[in-house]
Amino acid sequence: MRVLLVASAFNSLTQRVHTELRGRGHEVGVELALGDDLLRARVTHFRPDLIVAPMLTTAIPEDIWTAHTVLIVHPGPKGDRGPSSLDWAISTGAREWGVTVLQAVAEMDAGPIWASVRFPVAACGKSELYRNEVSDAAVTAVLLAVDRFAGGEFGPEPLDYSRPDVRGQLRPYHSQQYRRIDWDSEDTASVLRKLRAADSQPGVLDELYGREYFLHGGHHEDRLRGTPGAVVATRDGAICRATVDGAVWLPQLRRRRKPGGPATFKRPATHALGTDLPGDVPEVPVTPAEAAVRDTWSELSYYEQGSVGYLEFAFAGGAMSTVQCRRLLAAYRQACARPIRALVLGPARDFFSNGIHLNVIEGAEDPAEESWRNITAMNDLVEAILTTTDKLVISALTGNAAAGGVMLALAADEVWCRESVVLNPHYRLMGLYGSEYWTYSLPRRVGATEAARLTRETLPVGAGAAAAIGLVDRVGAGGTAEFREWVRREASLLADSPELEGRLTAKKRQREADEAVKPLADYRSEELAHMRRNFFAEGEPYHQLRQNFVYNVVPPATPAYLLG
Ligand code: COA
Repeated sequence: MRVLLVASAFNSLTQRVHTELRGRGHEVGVELALGDDLLRARVTHFRPDLIVAPMLTTAIPEDIWTAHTVLIVHPGPKGDRGPSSLDWAISTGAREWGVTVLQAVAEMDAGPIWASVRFPVAACGKSELYRNEVSDAAVTAVLLAVDRFAGGEFGPEPLDYSRPDVRGQLRPYHSQQYRRIDWDSEDTASVLRKLRAADSQPGVLDELYGREYFLHGGHHEDRLRGTPGAVVATRDGAICRATVDGAVWLPQLRRRRKPGGPATFKRPATHALGTDLPGDVPEVPVTPAEAAVRDTWSELSYYEQGSVGYLEFAFAGGAMSTVQCRRLLAAYRQACARPIRALVLGPARDFFSNGIHLNVIEGAEDPAEESWRNITAMNDLVEAILTTTDKLVISALTGNAAAGGVMLALAADEVWCRESVVLNPHYRLMGLYGSEYWTYSLPRRVGATEAARLTRETLPVGAGAAAAIGLVDRVGAGGTAEFREWVRREASLLADSPELEGRLTAKKRQREADEAVKPLADYRSEELAHMRRNFFAEGEPYHQLRQNFVYNVVPPATPAYLLG
């Protein structure tokens, strides 16, 4: 079928639906919802058999949904309606939620139901839930609905609140009035529900040291205590605030925009507070090994099971600043010094990595210099992985990766990913040539022709397609917990197998042979020559593209690469 995806942004779920439908042989086009007339023109030109809206915050014009079947993905169970479904689910402590595929009609979210899938609500922020459990359920529901539509026999179920399985309700927009935290009376559980319902957007509006900020994040702290609402500690750019019965970590803050003032964006909390943060607030570090056995916030954690080490990293938005890269490199080196045979890299949930930290760069005094420092720190990390020859290194991707984040994964000996993962192995959309030794690792895996296609087309690649071209080695099924369980089983089998010694010897030889043909230092300096131009030369598009990304500037039209 010809399927047109209409979306407010080409976000993770839209990318996933795009890769899944293409993988099933459908012809898929994407149109960003940037105005009714643009949409009408695209529909006329594309002539879709079916229109699917995986993530849409505006209404489809009536003349389109009367002439075509339009399926809307709504992140709520049957009967749930309104623009803030997940916010309500998390803030009210729902244990189970759903995704429903509805046909567009005049009334929002009230159309006949084509499919509905339920999922357990994990204890995490809204965006993380969206990229994991919600996306998995949504893809199942969309594929079911598309098959039902293609079959031609299915009659969608009218919304009928008298049915026992229709338990949702119409709820209002979840405005800041519902999000406000009363630090003097609310316990940690209540504070965390509010923070998580607002993470990553729009954040909880609050005051710190006399200024208004949106609070982002929301993680438990097991030891630190203090006066409710007070900032009692910092750690790696995050702040810890006491509640009446505990404390919570807030990794990022965004200053509230003043009327008529410049737009603001999310930054590490201590950067956002700057000199407002009193000098007597202590930095309370935690080692990766301690973090693995405590209930506190840390971007890094490390543990061992048998002869396998697990270095987990979890960076908000998958973005890795200069200091985050350096901390990860230090933890990597420590792990390498351990008597383990295999090392698994990657977070237990969510993004693997999305490359250099564009917000931190934007907030720096000299963004070009900070870009340079950031890519240098990324390269140092990637180089350490590429040159590890005495252990088997496995990148385990539970969630998505993009740009330098994909190349970071490819530095390992094996790349395993969850079947739901979407990869964006390209840099061009950010106006960058790219580094992270991609000119070595990408063609090494997929060949020069495929590497050129991936970087030219700039399209997302689903896990199955990635495995078919050799971009990744293995694909594991299931949700995040099942995938990690599978990774643990397979990693320990590999680490304990009698073939491991032989593999490590072969790996060392291969590295030496590759080095003799072209040293890693040459790949690095060639890539960095391009990157230096991207960062420092006049007329390069990177700085503008980065600003558009950080400030969430809506493009004037659907980019050409999505037209299908
Ligand atoms: N730097 C800073 N923030 C980043 C980031 C980066 N490299 N990559 C993602 N983020 C942030 C996003 O701004 C977003 O923040 P929000 O939740 O506050 O809105 C969050 O992480 C999630 O990203 P989002 O774009 O909403 O997720 P997605 O799954 O829809 O799209 C990408 C994922 C990777 C396609 C998209 O985020 C992207 O293009 N990132 C930039 C990749 C890049 O060019 N890196 C630099 C070159 S190495």
